Amino acid sequence: MKLCVALDLPSKEENLSLIRKIKSENVWLKVGLRSFIRDGELLLHEIKSINSSFKIFLDLKIHDIPNTMADAAESIAGLGVDMFNVHASSGVKAMKTVMDRVNTLPQSPIVLAVTALTSFDNASFEAIYHTSIAEKAMEFAKDAHCAGIHGVVCSVFESRAIKACTSEDFLTLTPGIRPFGEVHDDQERVADLAMAKAELSDFIVVGRPIYHSDDPLGVVRKIVENI
Ligand code: C5P
Repeated sequence: MKLCVALDLPSKEENLSLIRKIKSENVWLKVGLRSFIRDGELLLHEIKSINSSFKIFLDLKIHDIPNTMADAAESIAGLGVDMFNVHASSGVKAMKTVMDRVNTLPQSPIVLAVTALTSFDNASFEAIYHTSIAEKAMEFAKDAHCAGIHGVVCSVFESRAIKACTSEDFLTLTPGIRPFGEVHDDQERVADLAMAKAELSDFIVVGRPIYHSDDPLGVVRKIVENI
């Protein structure tokens, strides 16, 4: 299991200051919409210049028509990132079109598909999809697996079942982690480190419990030690 630190701070300088504090650690860094829209490719270069062995997950959750998604995927791969994601609700054809393109590229990152956002509770999810999170997450995961995607973004609570209905090497990346039972913030289906391990999560995403702490390096080290 690997730790992926979410860089969701309000400015590039704050993100870079967090990265400098944890630069000794062998972790993944998650660059999300806010940071990428504001700071763009330059941020990716600055991360690598702090420590070139940081792996970067570009969390843009792309969702569009198949050809537009494949074009975006090609541009993302060209940035040299190690992992990015698409929405599984874009459909099997779109995901397959993305993978057909990605597989032709010299540098092909890991591609994940988002199933159900961890901020959904059952009622608000059902209002959109008219089925339960558990059922739909499983369907999305099977679609993604069929399309040749490498894994999914899901909650810890679906990780094990998703592997069981796809394959054990189908990756699961799980946000909504409060490693040692910290406050939930706006996350609904949260889990701690022990649960994430027990449910076979491959990557855990942790944001606020690290960057809101007075000692981000201490928290990162404690997580890494417990993984
Ligand atoms: O601060 P916290 O640990 O809740 O951050 C979780 C991160 O994971 C945020 O960047 C959020 O956008 C992202 N995320 C999520 N749920 C998903 C996919 C991504 O919380 N299903």
